[in-house]
Amino acid sequence: MTKNCSRRMFLLGSATTVAGAFLAACGEEPSVEIAKAEVPVGSAIIADGFIIAQPQPGTYLAYSQRCPHQRNLITKVEGDQVRCTAHNSVFKLADGSVVQGPARDPLETASLSETGDTLNVRG
Ligand code: FES
Repeated sequence: MTKNCSRRMFLLGSATTVAGAFLAACGEEPSVEIAKAEVPVGSAIIADGFIIAQPQPGTYLAYSQRCPHQRNLITKVEGDQVRCTAHNSVFKLADGSVVQGPARDPLETASLSETGDTLNVRG
């Protein structure tokens, strides 16, 4: 009985710790600040969970780095498109639309604001 109780308390404590860590992680909104000059015109960079694009000079867009297909991280910029190498879905940077599946949904947009020469992106 004591052994079972200890084990139960251990499991309860572990679950509480995991839940606490999960909530702490969820409480922090992902964000990144980046200089506008680092974002190439007609293309994009990938930084800290975001795809930050400049399809036209002075026009900036931000998307989540998570692929809408199965949530893998998109890691490859190819000119004015990005490719998820997990299953080769391709997305257009100008609007996040699908160029090539298997993904059916467009890239998820992220919140983007500008402060002088800096872009602030939030999930
Ligand atoms: S997770 Fe990106 S194409 Fe499947």
